[in-house]
Amino acid sequence: MGAGQLARMTVEAASPLGIRVHVLAEHAGDSAARVAASTTLGAGTLARGLAPFAQRCDVVTFDHELVSVVDVRQLEAAGVRFWPSADTVAVAQNKWEQRTRFQQLGLPIPAFAAADSVTDVDRFAERHAWPVILKAVLGGYDGRGVWIARDHDEAEQTLSSAGQRGMRVFVEQFLPIERECAGLVCRRPRGDTVAYPIVDTVQKDGICHELAVPSSLPRQLTVQAQHTGTLIAEHLGVVGILAVEFFVANGQLWVNEIAARPHNSGHFSIEGCVTSQFENHLRAILDWPLGSTELVAPYVTTVNILGSADSADPRVNLPLALSLPQVKVHLYVKKPRPGRKLGHVTVLGDDRPQTRVVAWQAVHLLTGGSAEDSTEVGGVA
Ligand SMILES: Nc1ncnc2c1ncn2[C@@H]1O[C@H](COP(=O)(O)OP(=O)(O)O)[C@@H](O)[C@H]1O
Ligand SMILES: [Mg+2]
Repeated sequence: MGAGQLARMTVEAASPLGIRVHVLAEHAGDSAARVAASTTLGAGTLARGLAPFAQRCDVVTFDHELVSVVDVRQLEAAGVRFWPSADTVAVAQNKWEQRTRFQQLGLPIPAFAAADSVTDVDRFAERHAWPVILKAVLGGYDGRGVWIARDHDEAEQTLSSAGQRGMRVFVEQFLPIERECAGLVCRRPRGDTVAYPIVDTVQKDGICHELAVPSSLPRQLTVQAQHTGTLIAEHLGVVGILAVEFFVANGQLWVNEIAARPHNSGHFSIEGCVTSQFENHLRAILDWPLGSTELVAPYVTTVNILGSADSADPRVNLPLALSLPQVKVHLYVKKPRPGRKLGHVTVLGDDRPQTRVVAWQAVHLLTGGSAEDSTEVGGVA
């Protein structure tokens, strides 16, 4: 379900294993619809063609969470196999529900509260100080749905514009983020799990720009992050990939959010690991043995190719970037738009700074030299 770049890269991983992938796409030109064995036009609701699509599949999986859990549940009851299950997707699509579950598990999370009115936010800020973070309960991604409010007026403005768009919002403590990282685990229905090496993620304006593996965090924190990923996967009965985003603030690890599907933070694994996140996701949902997540090089850097107002379509400049022989380029074949993820590049090597330099060189060449080097960590839309 869904035909973006995550589905496209899943199709690419399916081919060597002889798996046929049918995609449910909004449009015939969607990224994965261009490469899948077959495409059904529709979306993740019964009203938009989910049932006939799902019924022809052995197992149905997701490349996003914007689906009707009620409808997925109904098809599950009728015998259609969804992995992850509707119960898992219900948590993955709802940041409030995630916070509540993580709190029950005793995981370190920022303080949070309902924000049905600006009075709720004022009260929260009295206890935890301004600024605060306001977050959409549903539907946020790439920083859309995350706002910083420095005072009462800003909170009021955000609540009112979110309310006009029909978005429910909650409030959470603003953390002085030093860095961000992510951990991916993959789980089979019977419970076996594998964990990928923790990856440092460089976020700017709520969008992930760069991945660095292995993480440069102290070992104690990377071990904690991996254990946390496995714990959440088990608690939610995840089947397939689970990505957990973490903050490092005040010298400790905080759990941010999860995705129960292949995730941008795992793109390094395509060339960087023995088994990519996409292949392991397929193995898991088919209940096949999981592959090794071991790194195949000492360092891996992945840089996202993001559209900007003045950047070129990376497809035009592709041969320029391919003149750098170490660089692996992935283009998602999407129409460029500012802030849109259009592709990524990955470089493996023995020297971390060198892999970064080459990866950024490739991205500059692809975007016509306008991509900014992103070394800032943190930042909120
Ligand atoms: N409580 C917080 N304190 C400070 N920054 C935050 C907080 N929550 C989110 N952010 C910043 O906003 C980014 C996007 O938030 P996130 O909840 O991951 O939403 P999205 O679904 O858009 O990825 C994070 O990667 C982080 O940089
Ligand atoms: Mg996020």
